Amino acid sequence: MHIPVLFNEVIKWLDPKPGQKFIDATINGGGHGLAILEKVQPDGELLGIEWDSELLKNLESRIMNHESRSSITLVNDSYVNLKKIAEEKGFLESDGILFDLGMSSWHLDQSGRGFSFRKDEVLDMRFNQETEFSALEIVNTFSEKDLREIITEYGEEKFADRIAKNIVEARKSKIIKTTLELVEVIKNSVPSWYSNKRINPATKTFQALRIKVNQELDNIARGLDSALDVLKKGGRAAVISFHVLEDRIVKNKFRDFKNKGLVEILTKKAVAPEYEEVKSNPRARSAKLRVFRKL
Ligand SMILES: C[S@@+](CC[C@H](N)C(=O)[O-])C[C@H]1O[C@@H](n2cnc3c(N)ncnc32)[C@H](O)[C@@H]1O
Repeated sequence: MHIPVLFNEVIKWLDPKPGQKFIDATINGGGHGLAILEKVQPDGELLGIEWDSELLKNLESRIMNHESRSSITLVNDSYVNLKKIAEEKGFLESDGILFDLGMSSWHLDQSGRGFSFRKDEVLDMRFNQETEFSALEIVNTFSEKDLREIITEYGEEKFADRIAKNIVEARKSKIIKTTLELVEVIKNSVPSWYSNKRINPATKTFQALRIKVNQELDNIARGLDSALDVLKKGGRAAVISFHVLEDRIVKNKFRDFKNKGLVEILTKKAVAPEYEEVKSNPRARSAKLRVFRKL
């Protein structure tokens, strides 16, 4: 089960009240969304968007008998299409929206799609199976130059040169099909001191591939633009990011909106989790919450 990150902080900053309309743009198992749904009862509504159809089906069957089932609308799509979805489902002029970015624990532990470098699974990394290409195609067909750029740009990996070169070398004799096959290539590309660090040497390359496969950084910018369109005046958007590349885009977008006089930024500094939360949920370690109010 995915433990919701910055739970109390999200509820505090979004401040859902009875009768209001909220959107959870990344609803996953409903950790935040269902709590928001409770807060907007009676008469309020929640729109939950999830790109991963398997996760959305799980949630649908879990909440079948939920007492507020009729107040929640679930949609299997990318939040990139937020404006269209909100128009179709009657969620224009919403009071608040949450983006909890990236993947969930379920992707790492249970999806079987190669998100984790600790399990031996076929390289896939797609949140949505209709996505154009998977990690398998990137690793086995992209040029060395493209691989180097992806690993540098989306992983900030200082050994991207060697890793890209060795991927191309390794795949000449045999397709790199699984996560552990890729981990082996990465380990052989970096110095031993790097492999012996606390952080797994494959961490950054895996992050880079996942971002590229799902176009995650582009999605954030597009999602935030749409958020502005679907919120009513005074409505709030909360965004939880998990690494510096995500947070940079969120921060820049917020600043851009503010400079155009469109929003007030409510979190002067990004909100970080309390020590207790990080202790009980290591995934929260790098989480940052930023919130704006539409003017
Ligand atoms: C960190 S999890 C959200 C967890 C959720 N807030 C909870 O506490 O249960 C992020 C979710 O966003 C989904 N996701 C990623 N990109 C998406 C996109 N472009 N549109 C909609 N959902 C997306 C992922 O499949 C994942 O389930």
